[in-house]
Amino acid sequence: MTAPRKLFIKTYGCQMNVYDSERMAEAMGANGYVTTQVAEDADMILLNTCHIREKAAEKVYSELGRLKPLKDLNPDLKIGIAGCVAQAEGAEIMRRAPVVDLVVGPQTYHRLPAMEIAARAGERPVDTEFPTEDKFEHLPKGPRAARGPSAFLTVQEGCDKFCAFCVVPYTRGTEVSRPAERILREARDLVARGVRDITLLGQNVNGYHGEGLDGRDWSLARLVRELAEIDDLQRIRYTTSHPNDMTDDLIAAHGEIGKLMPYLHLPVQSGSDKILKAMNRKHTAGQYLELLDRLRAVRPDLAISGDFIVGFPGEDEVEFEATMSLVRKVGYHSAFSFKYSARPGTPAAERPVLPDGLLTERLHRLQALITAQQYAAQEAMVGRDVTVLFEKSGRMPGQMVGKSEFLHAVHVTGTGLEPAIEPGQMRRVRITESMTNSLTGVLL
Ligand code: SAH
Ligand code: SF4
Ligand code: F3S
Repeated sequence: MTAPRKLFIKTYGCQMNVYDSERMAEAMGANGYVTTQVAEDADMILLNTCHIREKAAEKVYSELGRLKPLKDLNPDLKIGIAGCVAQAEGAEIMRRAPVVDLVVGPQTYHRLPAMEIAARAGERPVDTEFPTEDKFEHLPKGPRAARGPSAFLTVQEGCDKFCAFCVVPYTRGTEVSRPAERILREARDLVARGVRDITLLGQNVNGYHGEGLDGRDWSLARLVRELAEIDDLQRIRYTTSHPNDMTDDLIAAHGEIGKLMPYLHLPVQSGSDKILKAMNRKHTAGQYLELLDRLRAVRPDLAISGDFIVGFPGEDEVEFEATMSLVRKVGYHSAFSFKYSARPGTPAAERPVLPDGLLTERLHRLQALITAQQYAAQEAMVGRDVTVLFEKSGRMPGQMVGKSEFLHAVHVTGTGLEPAIEPGQMRRVRITESMTNSLTGVLL
């Protein structure tokens, strides 16, 4: 028997890429590959790339420059580019970078094993189609590796929203929802392997409208209700949502389904109606705030997180202040903020950009506000009791790390007297201290 070949995957971008990387690793199992964390040991290296902000392609080329010497050490090493840069610029990468052996888009990774064989035969395959078949269904059905208690599960892909700044509708294509039956099967399989917390993924996950068990289209809320029936599945989350797809049944679900965690990532991007219009978001700041009111009416402790873009073309001080004001009103548990980055092929790329110094200054102001809110939200947890799903041991002896319902990382150090905490266990914890990016607590 020959030793298995080793696959090293470097993942950039969003959780959907994390999920896709896992699926690609499984697919390559069919060709006798196991994964490695060490690039130097690999027989194949895949860069699973992200195209969302500037210099995406440049980052890929510089990473390829770093990897090139490994081919001198191991002439059999194959290098592949996957993900959203592959989708957007795959052919160009093939031309410019002879070190690349294959290019696979985010919709075709089930064809990766065949492409790897072609690459070993000296071809340089490129596949960035949007096939109609379901890539998830072509993967090996055998037992999958044991894993931690939390997992991602992609239920929906692509986006039809066409926000003026965003490449996703071009790199991931149009919205497609997986049938509920397949999602439920995958969820049960994950739970059988010890998973207790599933985050449903989609670029526009609350736009989910897959075929239900009854043959009708199911909404995300309907799907969540069905998933909540799986006995050992304890926690359900979903990301990322668009405000316009927060339907009445989904709002109601937050008040009715105990397993649906009180945490919601709901990006708004800007607090200015003028900028929201220019971004083609199709909602106002007021509508967003009203939506949060309705959600908090059914789930008062709901932790809100968001995304913001500063310096979108046309954003003056007045518009930026509107964003600051919206953030003050919402009180975020956490939020990501980015400098606007003009993406080739998007409508906003045609508009004049603001000076970078201004973007940096606004980003710092917004991030200072968001960080202050995050710390305040964490401070407010001190003295409160939460349920922690423990995931792994921490850095200190006897320490365990897990997640609260609100997605806070929580560290607990046992006294050595109580029974040891095992990964996958849920325990009540009293929060004693707020650290920079986590909470500390004691078992109750
Ligand atoms: N589908 C999700 C998120 C997509 S990308 C949604 O609609 O919310 C994640 C985040 O990256 C976005 O929410 C946005 O804040 C940011 N982003 C997207 N395109 C960008 C661009 N051109 N420049 C700066 N930030 C961008
Ligand atoms: Fe991009 Fe907008 Fe779609 Fe989100 S909703 S993926 S920001 S186009
Ligand atoms: Fe990036 Fe593609 Fe995700 S562009 S954010 S990896 S969908």
